[in-house]
Amino acid sequence: MRPPLTGYPLGALSPTVGRGEGEGGFGHYPRFFAKAFANNRDRLQPMELGLKGKVVLVTGASRGIGRAIALVFAAEGCRLALASRTPSALAAVAEEVEALGSEARHWATDVTDPTQVETLVRNVCRAWGGIDVLVNNAGGGYAKAFEAVGDEEWERIVNLNLFSAIRLSRAVLPSMKERGDGQIINIAALSGRVPRLGQIASNAAKAALINFTESLAAEVASHGIRVNAVCPAAILTERWQQRVAHYGKEHGLSIEQAMTALAGKGIPLGRFGLPEEVASAVVFLASERAGFITGVSIFVDGGMGRSVSIP
Ligand SMILES: NC(=O)c1ccc[n+]([C@@H]2O[C@H](COP(=O)([O-])OP(=O)(O)OC[C@H]3O[C@@H](n4cnc5c(N)ncnc54)[C@H](OP(=O)(O)O)[C@@H]3O)[C@@H](O)[C@H]2O)c1
Repeated sequence: MRPPLTGYPLGALSPTVGRGEGEGGFGHYPRFFAKAFANNRDRLQPMELGLKGKVVLVTGASRGIGRAIALVFAAEGCRLALASRTPSALAAVAEEVEALGSEARHWATDVTDPTQVETLVRNVCRAWGGIDVLVNNAGGGYAKAFEAVGDEEWERIVNLNLFSAIRLSRAVLPSMKERGDGQIINIAALSGRVPRLGQIASNAAKAALINFTESLAAEVASHGIRVNAVCPAAILTERWQQRVAHYGKEHGLSIEQAMTALAGKGIPLGRFGLPEEVASAVVFLASERAGFITGVSIFVDGGMGRSVSIP
């Protein structure tokens, strides 16, 4: 447990403030706080995220949202540990990270395999001495009705979307606790709050992931570790690109027309989201600027979660 009055950002509360300076009584509290937080004027600067040099492990980093997350962290000067099952695709993303002037290493890992997860975390810690930010992004689902999903399929989906995050969190926590710092960000989905028809297994796994995020955040907050979730919907990764193309072919529309028609069907902002827009939310949550945010889910969904009322 950290002692009280530590962990405030920017070193605002110096140990001498409020002691031995005639400030002991509570009547002097305005002076105490004015002095204690004087440094907070430093915050009135363009957003400096304070992520330079941080070690960030991203799972599912070989394409889609995971790749975008890796690149946006790279643009902030972080060191990227990239994991997924496909070494060639990871190597290509590592090159993109390096082209942005940041370091990257990659490890072929199936996150549903507990042994491979342990090896991954050990390798990253050996390479860079620890992990500052863990992004549990690997995941996914498919369209199938309840009666078509057997036990094996349920286990596969829950393993990929939930257990991978549980095991990776378990593996990184000891070193984060030791340092009294660290961020875990889980990529869940809007469908974990508002179920999507025909995706029962991943809906349930993502709902559990959101609850896991909230529960773990409460357990580790006293160690200075923050745990948050980002919940995307309708992000234009390969899967949605294929759907758009298929819809266009079926209805005799161009790709642009198909995109407009599909987005018009239920996305209040009237367009699909971009992987980089999810990545920006992740990077913000990992940053010093989000230092007082834990246990939340940020929905990057164009308003689909009914946070925007449709006239
Ligand atoms: N796109 C959306 O609209 C949307 C909406 C809601 C939620 N999400 C969530 O956002 C995350 C990323 O989605 P995406 O659209 O970018 O998916 P994607 O394009 O299908 O990419 C999935 C990534 O996960 C990796 N992966 C899959 N199984 C893995 C395993 N067993 N071990 C290690 N890596 C594995 C894949 O790499 P390899 O094949 O190389 O292993 C790939 O890098 C997922 O958790 C997804 O559920 C996306």
